[in-house]
Formats: sequence, structure tokens, C-alpha cells
Amino acid sequence: MKAKKISVFAPATVANIGCGFDILGMAIHGVGDLVTIVPNTSDKLIIKSISGDGKKLTKNINENIVAISIQALLNHLNSKQGFDIYLKKQMPLSSGLGSSAASSVAGLYAANLFLGSPLSKQELVSFAMEGERIACGTAHTDNVAPSLLGGIVLCRNNEMAETISLPVPKQLYVVVVHPHYELKTSDSRKALPKKIDLKTGARQWSNTASFVHALHTNNFELLADSITDFVAEPHRKSLIPHFDEVKGAALLNGGLACSISGSGPSIFCIAKRKKNAQKAAAAMKSIYKKNKMGVDVYISNVNTKGAQQIK
Ligand code: HSE
Repeated sequence: MKAKKISVFAPATVANIGCGFDILGMAIHGVGDLVTIVPNTSDKLIIKSISGDGKKLTKNINENIVAISIQALLNHLNSKQGFDIYLKKQMPLSSGLGSSAASSVAGLYAANLFLGSPLSKQELVSFAMEGERIACGTAHTDNVAPSLLGGIVLCRNNEMAETISLPVPKQLYVVVVHPHYELKTSDSRKALPKKIDLKTGARQWSNTASFVHALHTNNFELLADSITDFVAEPHRKSLIPHFDEVKGAALLNGGLACSISGSGPSIFCIAKRKKNAQKAAAAMKSIYKKNKMGVDVYISNVNTKGAQQIK
């Protein structure tokens, strides 16, 4: 007998990881979205409720990315199954934490499970990518892939939704500080130049390659050095209040590297071991406190599970 309802939690993600604009992302613990689907007897998707979004998201199935992603899957499978959809946002919108990705991933994975898992998580990446195209204007997979698959993911080919899961060092901790204001990915992308020069490109390719090598060799020194962003951070950091001060505080207090999480405004920092992450997090938070800005702080190791059914 088929399940009466399926609930899936999909985690938040740190896209770009400093050195891999649009091609690197990692999943974290403690923050993400929950989608519950209940089969209905119509052949339609109906968004029954959305909570935690401050009434900002639409229930229109032609505009809501959870419905759009599930519909893309149903069309692919030639399925007429209808679902009532309940979306519980458990993370801030437009935060640089892959909020839209977590929603569409949770919905897609739930629908796929209900239908008997016809597709693998890897195969679902391209359907979640369609949600990103609507939400952000571009179909990048650096949030959806790690949210689905977990771990640290290299998105080798965004068009083909081709991904490579990279090794996750056991002692790696991630701090994410989310200052309380929204920055839309589409606006943050407008701040980027259309072209970069060869010298900048070469420096960045070197960092991206070194990052991958550092993960394979568990080399934290090289990892720290590789997470330097010559492509997006210089153009986006002015959109994030106190960015330089927060980064300085992180690096002086146990953080190994620090940059913008996804398109911002969240800022992430990596550390070796939890106690160093906690120290860096406190220092980063204190900058916002001093400037009377509210923040959320997440300290986590890398979430290697990705989207998971909640029983
Ligand atoms: N790679 C994307 C960007 C992530 O930096 O614009 C945002 O979701």
C-alpha cells in the first residue's frame, strides 16, 4: 500500500564556497525546509499551506517553485498523480543559504519517494534546477545538488546537471552568519561583471583545483588558502554590511577562510574542529551586535546526508 503522506527535510547549502562560483556547494546541518505531500484524487498539484515565509511566497502552482519542480518530474514520468503540498520554511528567504533550492529539493524528493523512487537523487538534480531557473533567473545547481545529495559537491556541468561528490574532511566545520536582511540572488548577480580577465580567471582556476586537491589530501592549510574569491566577492561584498570587518574577525579568531555564502548576504567561514568554529562564530556575531544588526548563526559540520525523509 502506498504511503498516505511523505515528509522530506532538505538542508540549507553554502554555494560557491569562495573559490567555485556557480560550481561548488556544500550542505549544512540545523537549517533547511520541510515539505509534506499528500496524494489527492485530482490530477492536480495544490499548495495547501506555506508557513515561515512571512506570506511572501505564492500558492499559485504555476509560480511556486516546489510545484513547478514536482510538475516537471510528473511530466517526465508521464504521471497524472495529484498532490496536496504543505511547505514549512524553516530558513530565511533570500539569505544566501539556498532557500529556494531547499524547498524544491524537499518537494521533489518527497514526490519521487511516493512514486516508488523511479529516479535517483542524482537524476533529480536537473528537475530541481528548473526551480532555480524560476527563482533566480539562472539554472545553476550549486545549491540544489548539495541539498539533494549532501556533502561537498562539484557541479561539473550545470546544463547537464552533472555533479561530482568530493571528500569531506572529518574535522571540517562551517560557520554561517546570516545578517537580518534580504538580498535577492537576481540582484546580487547583477553586481557581477559580464567578463573577467585571463589573469583573474587563472588565479581562480588555480584556487578551485587546489580546493579539490586539499579535500582529497585532508590538507587544511591548502584548503584555507584556496578559498579565496577573485570573481564574485570583490563585486558583491559592498552589498553586505560590515563584510570586511566580519571576515577579519573570523580569520583572527580561529576561522581558516571566510567568504560570501552563495549570493549573500550570509557570510560563511570554515574552521578545523568545532571549538575553533565556535570562537570564529562568536567573533563574527559580535561585529553585527556592535552595529545593532540582528543575525542568525549556524555552526555545523558538513551535512553528508542531504535530503531525507522524516518519519
Ligand atoms: N552560485 C550562485 C550565485 C548561488 O552566486 O549567484 C546563488 O544561489
